[in-house]
Amino acid sequence: MPTARISHLIPDGRRLAVAGTRQVLLHEGMPGDEVRYAVVPGRGRTPRGELEEVLNPSADRRTPPCPFSANCGGCDLDALTEEAQREARTELVARATERSWDQRPMLFPVAPFSAYRARITLHLDGGQVGYRAPRSHDLVPVDVCRIARPEIQDAHRKLVDFIARHGHEGLSDVELRSDGARVIYAFVSDGSVPRALREALGELGDVALDGRTHTGDPTLTLDVLGLSLRASPRAFYQVHLEANLALVGLVVAAVQEARPQRIVDLYAGIGNLTLPLARDGGAPVVAVEREGQATEDLRHNAEQAGLTDQVSVVTRPVERWDPSREPFDVVVLDPPRIGAKGVVDKLVLQRPRRIVYVACHVSSALRDLQPALAQGYFVRRVQLVDLFPDTHHVETVLVVDRGDQR
Ligand SMILES: C[S@@+](CC[C@H](N)C(=O)[O-])C[C@H]1O[C@@H](n2cnc3c(N)ncnc32)[C@H](O)[C@@H]1O
Repeated sequence: MPTARISHLIPDGRRLAVAGTRQVLLHEGMPGDEVRYAVVPGRGRTPRGELEEVLNPSADRRTPPCPFSANCGGCDLDALTEEAQREARTELVARATERSWDQRPMLFPVAPFSAYRARITLHLDGGQVGYRAPRSHDLVPVDVCRIARPEIQDAHRKLVDFIARHGHEGLSDVELRSDGARVIYAFVSDGSVPRALREALGELGDVALDGRTHTGDPTLTLDVLGLSLRASPRAFYQVHLEANLALVGLVVAAVQEARPQRIVDLYAGIGNLTLPLARDGGAPVVAVEREGQATEDLRHNAEQAGLTDQVSVVTRPVERWDPSREPFDVVVLDPPRIGAKGVVDKLVLQRPRRIVYVACHVSSALRDLQPALAQGYFVRRVQLVDLFPDTHHVETVLVVDRGDQR
């Protein structure tokens, strides 16, 4: 069986292992490991392999701090020291962006580095609570998740006990959501939850069922740099509350620096970027978001902050929003992992001076930005906020300027 040394990660989290001119992509192993692997048939430019054995482990390895680590796979870098993980995430983005930017991105780590997640989605299957195994539908039972915030860990234990007593007929998933103080349970059902179980759910406290209030008050209030942001049960918010503040700070600074007349914030959610931009960015903001519950929150949040004159909200998929109808000179976009295919093509027709792309998947961002780069825009800088410790994921802020802004 062939052997190779794992060099680095690629943006989808796979590991590139190298032996001379031979390269192979693996799902497991850590940068620096010498490994033995089996070749797996498949298409694609780089051959794929399955890790058989770590022959000589990387000096940066540690014992994974989680007992579920081997099967769960959610924390795919937890076998590395914190420092080596940060290096691996930075290297991943540096290599992905090297053709567009010749410097090494700056990474901003923000404590806490474990017990940080303010939202986790647990699956309910066969009477058990857990995560899905990597590349599989199999449930890995997990009764505590060490990257979740302490209050989420408490809520998780309460849930495991609840399911043991009541079962979960008709319920498939639950998101535990914290604003740093309160935790709510947001269940997803197939519509067939028996009445006794529906009534019992109230024992858990603040519960939403299929996006609607079931018991108590399942809306949260997030504090973002002095702004109070309501988040309804279906609305997105960033998973690391503390690192989010660093992210917002970087985006606001990048926008301020461009001295905008009018800002567009695409994929705006509940206004996590919109409202700090409206308050501190120096210009009014048009926010576009497709989820009705999130835009209701955004409007409410703007009102609470006294910023309604500074913010206009469009509830629409970005693909169906026409940029030629809004004059703007700076645009922020923060799409989901799949990116914003085709959106930048339309934006550059309006010749904004600056595009600030916030990406949780750097490959999608680089693909989406190609039309701008082809028209003379250039990458001014790339910054990273360490929003997802113990995993290969990292939040990337790409600041892209029109060619005449050099
Ligand atoms: C990564 S979140 C960013 C939200 C916000 N900027 C923040 O910092 O919290 C992406 C948001 O885009 C929204 N979204 C996803 N696809 C969309 C689309 N095609 N058009 C508009 N909004 C979309 C989601 O509902 C979600 O609120």
